[in-house]
Amino acid sequence: MQIEYRKEEKQFHLCNGNISYIFHVMENGQLGHLYFGKQVHTGRSYLYLQKQRSHCHTAYAYENNFCFSLDTMRQEYPAYGTTDFRDPAYQLVQKDGSRITDFVYTGHEIVEGKPKLPGLPATYVEAEEEARTLVVYLKDELLQVEMQLLYTMFSDYDAVARSVRFVNKGKETVALNRALSMSLDFFDSDFTMLQLDGTWARERYISERILQKGIQSVGSLRGASSAVHNPFLALKRKNTTESDGEVYGCSLVYSGNFLMQAEVDHYDVLRVMAGIHPSEFCWQLHPGETFQTPEAVMVYSCQGLNGMSQTFHELYNRRLAHGRWRERVRPILINNWEATYFDFNQEKILDIARKAGELGVEMFVLDDGWFGKRNNASQSLGDWTPNYDKLPDGIRGLAEKITAMGMKFGLWFEPEMVNRVSELYQKHPEWVVHTPGRRMSVGRNQYVLDYSNPEVVAYIGDLMEAILDDAPVSYIKWDMNRNITEAFSTSLEADRQGEFFHRYILGVYALYERLTNKYPDILFESCASGGGRFDPGMLYYAPQCWTSDDTDAVERIKIQYGTSLCYPVVSMGSHVSAVPNHQVGRVTGMDFRAAVAYFGTFGYELDVNRLTGEEQLQMKAQIAFFKKYREVIQLGRFYRLRSPFENQGDAAWICVSQDKRTAVLATYKVLARVNPRMKKLLLRGLDAELEYSLSGRDETYYGSELMNIGFVEDLEFTGYNVRDNGTIIYDNGSDKGDFTAHIYVLESR
Ligand code: DGJ
Repeated sequence: MQIEYRKEEKQFHLCNGNISYIFHVMENGQLGHLYFGKQVHTGRSYLYLQKQRSHCHTAYAYENNFCFSLDTMRQEYPAYGTTDFRDPAYQLVQKDGSRITDFVYTGHEIVEGKPKLPGLPATYVEAEEEARTLVVYLKDELLQVEMQLLYTMFSDYDAVARSVRFVNKGKETVALNRALSMSLDFFDSDFTMLQLDGTWARERYISERILQKGIQSVGSLRGASSAVHNPFLALKRKNTTESDGEVYGCSLVYSGNFLMQAEVDHYDVLRVMAGIHPSEFCWQLHPGETFQTPEAVMVYSCQGLNGMSQTFHELYNRRLAHGRWRERVRPILINNWEATYFDFNQEKILDIARKAGELGVEMFVLDDGWFGKRNNASQSLGDWTPNYDKLPDGIRGLAEKITAMGMKFGLWFEPEMVNRVSELYQKHPEWVVHTPGRRMSVGRNQYVLDYSNPEVVAYIGDLMEAILDDAPVSYIKWDMNRNITEAFSTSLEADRQGEFFHRYILGVYALYERLTNKYPDILFESCASGGGRFDPGMLYYAPQCWTSDDTDAVERIKIQYGTSLCYPVVSMGSHVSAVPNHQVGRVTGMDFRAAVAYFGTFGYELDVNRLTGEEQLQMKAQIAFFKKYREVIQLGRFYRLRSPFENQGDAAWICVSQDKRTAVLATYKVLARVNPRMKKLLLRGLDAELEYSLSGRDETYYGSELMNIGFVEDLEFTGYNVRDNGTIIYDNGSDKGDFTAHIYVLESR
């Protein structure tokens, strides 16, 4: 890992043996981009990549110089209006209303390791040798505002982390009405953009579009990163596949309003930008103040989409998620939501927990409905004291009883919300996000607490701590079930209202910080009506996230497959639920449901006592299987093998242990077909030289065979046949009917 500065050309070259990131100081003192991709030689000038030629019909920065126009130059962190006409990375509004700035290079610093971003989640290092950070200083002389561009190159991950700081060293306040985390201009635009789109219960479906001239973007203005678009995009070349070819990934470590944008200009230059959404954002930067943007992580892979995903998975598992649960297998839990909804009492809960414990479940999670007078979704959010009508022994009593059964106890909270029917609302109606004189829109009968106000955050933190100090709680599910409307804070001055959304999410982070520091052993799972805030910002505090409220196994294949583009298997909350499924009414077998839920945190969300004896035995066997192989699945490498988006919902994936000696392969068939062809699958990630046995098969196979010839799949049922003698037989395929899955364990001793 190296950061080279060539004084003569004022060129920076960051590299780690696999990737290079190169830029330079242009003749106007601003930064020009040269290259990001596979490592190239150090000790060389790459200024030829930025050769200037004169272009007609544009504007030039200097008189009598027809070659220097920002309109045609690739840049690092561009501004609008001084010959660049594309969307800018930032904009400052000055006292006189002007918006033109001129940030010029003043120096740089190379820091060992990686500095923390105050108040914000970000990737980190544990030893200085793991990364090196370049801080480039630029200054606008007129305003005396300094801009610091931070670039971190990691030694073990093919990723560059970027963020920006604005420091007001002048005497006047300036308003930042755009401050993105990164911008990157590519030489060409021959890419297909992949994004993760959806809505409630069908989050993070992969969609693709070939880049076109103009702007294409995804974003959120909902106050949360949202189920609609994820703060992630990938750019792949035409021939890139899951295992080969060039791809760039861009991921934003942020949970609020965001924008990720690709703009193709008139010379086919591609500008990619990511950061806080500029709409609804305006930050007053007073003299002496600093504004730090969230971090964007850019990954380069020449090993296809799987290569990109694995870099994200490893970086996010090892150096984003933090605390005790980082890189640890997760407890198998049972959650009572779909089993009881609000209709429970202590006895019912203990019955479910007892039976689940007998079958091997390790943790019971009590979901919504345990506090205040909460018997439906219309009341008590904000009143975080136990409902003694339902739970006569309180949370402590219940938790102790469950702990005595040998299980851990987990609890649901929705700390950012309040119902109008609640003690909190009666006491503090001004703490609800609303715009004075305007109607308050409602969602799920609830309103959003003003987390931009530290007093509100402190109050909710105290209530939560009172429960956590009193009862043995090992896990918290932190829910968030509506988006923000009528955004405004009574605690902010008029000119600071544009800061509301960012301050809100900083408030959420502050409470997470407080609780994760005070209770380092508690495992947090984030949730927002399922995966409505599944993003790297949340993963920093909560290493797992409830992936979707859709627990149907068929639907979950797509959701988990799409999510895996950026997020690790171990971060995806996944449960086996009852049938008919509560979201789609589909009936699938218990083993099919488990075969999908295995590829996540794994747990159950049903009333165990309503299962048949046979189903309970299946459950016991599933738990035993998962305990044996969860380390391979949760801490191994995950490879997508067959996409449900291209194969009528059928899919396949494999998890390979770090030492490559064990792997768990899953194939899924959604709908049965008559008389199907034979199928084979090229496996990935194995050791070519190792000989593997496969569960359910007598033969052994070398890794080289499985990865090059392929794994010949079990024969599918090919229909009934009538023999000449009139007997009806059915063919030898094992997986008759719809919704079948195979789980194979590959082992090499
Ligand atoms: C939405 C979550 O996604 C569900 O799992 C459940 O916790 C409900 N909220 C409870 O209100």
